[in-house]
Amino acid sequence: MTEKLIIHGGKALRGEVEISGAKNSVLKLMAATLLTGDSIELRNVPHLSDVGVMTQVLKYLGCDVDQQDDDRLYIQAKNITSCEAPYDLVRKMRASFDVLGSLLGRFGEARVALPGGCSIGKRSVDLHVKGLIALGAEVEINHGYVEAKASRLIGAEILLDTPSVGATENIMLAATMAEGATILSNAAQEPEIVDLANFLNAMGADISGAGTNELVINGVKPGSLHGTTYSVMPDRIEAATYLMAGVGTMGDVTVNNVLPVHLSSLTHKLIEMGAEIEMPSPNSIRIHSERRLQAQNIVTQPYPGFPTDLQAPFMTLLSTADGVSIVKETIYENRFKQVGELKRMGADISVERDVAVITGVPHLSGAEVNAHDLRAGAAMVIAGVMAEGSTQVFDLHHLDRGYEDVVSKMRSLGADIERVPDTSGRPVTEESA
Ligand code: EPU
Repeated sequence: MTEKLIIHGGKALRGEVEISGAKNSVLKLMAATLLTGDSIELRNVPHLSDVGVMTQVLKYLGCDVDQQDDDRLYIQAKNITSCEAPYDLVRKMRASFDVLGSLLGRFGEARVALPGGCSIGKRSVDLHVKGLIALGAEVEINHGYVEAKASRLIGAEILLDTPSVGATENIMLAATMAEGATILSNAAQEPEIVDLANFLNAMGADISGAGTNELVINGVKPGSLHGTTYSVMPDRIEAATYLMAGVGTMGDVTVNNVLPVHLSSLTHKLIEMGAEIEMPSPNSIRIHSERRLQAQNIVTQPYPGFPTDLQAPFMTLLSTADGVSIVKETIYENRFKQVGELKRMGADISVERDVAVITGVPHLSGAEVNAHDLRAGAAMVIAGVMAEGSTQVFDLHHLDRGYEDVVSKMRSLGADIERVPDTSGRPVTEESA
């Protein structure tokens, strides 16, 4: 039975919330564990359905995977029985495509289903494939699968056409045990790339430059990567979601276990809009506001620009800000699916191609809305706590991919929110973030 959220909004959220480990990092760290036969212990691992899907992928390949009730996850890729990731698993979650680089890097072969597009955009993997070819792999695309082979990969100079997060990761994973150095230019600079590089270095890799646009991966001897214990970075997108829920309700919220620098592009915008922001400790951010926020413009960009993953939740805030705001989405072709839902809650938004114009209304009013994808779902939860009256949010499986314990965390801040069975029989929508 699917479930829905019922939120009685309009209450100021107050209090502190602990942020979980980052979904978009842990999935890649899990893929990276394939590079050694030793046991790996990951900590600060969130309980998310996407972690469950990556667990299924690794088990399918022959790994032992054991997620504890607390935040630990043990993985050992000692007895790999297959180098193939089937479509059934990859289509559920496109991050499973990251096993391509690891399998190729360690075993010299991989057969991984093409993820295809998803509801937010085309999401091609051409740059991943070009990068692996540059490292000397023979790559063919047959029957919907990427088939890659190489007796030994050779380091190369690679320039990405665009700083793709996934391509940077797959190339980095494949190149860790290549012969010689790989220089990857126009690399993605997201904090999750830094986390992956730090993890690989803790396993014995030799990677420098992570967090800049040029990565240098000095290949180490095949078989030389080893086990380690590593703590996953905090989830900057989850942290941002609670900050926006706090300020959107004119409350006072502190997020703990965060790295504030990861959230600079958001906090700068919020300060310009009139929010008060403080850092009570090096790992916390406090936000509060007693006044209606002012309108603001954003353009989504690769890190350190404004993240596309926050565009939908931020639009919820803008929908009640004073004045006219403009949002331009440059990363995905179809990431405005929250707009129709926000309009059902009384927002005044018009969309022309990749630009949305939002004229702030004094308040949102509760309605029945869909979480069309993961971040559109977060936008609906924020809208629900901000709105007057009652909101029901459907299609929660999207939210479960990336938000651990959203109901208990929101309740700890004073939100009136519950999760109940959805008996409406509505069809379930698919997406693969
Ligand atoms: N692109 C290409 N060719 C490629 C690779 C990417 O054209 O070979 C395009 C994509 O189509 C897209 C853009 O480049 O339009 C950015 O894609 P990128 O590869 O950077 O993203 P990703 O690795 O597929 C990760 C996150 C996304 C997040 C983006 C951008 C994970 C599991 N996913 O996706 O997260 O939006 O980086 O920051 O890490 C989410 O969490 O909701 C989510 C969608």
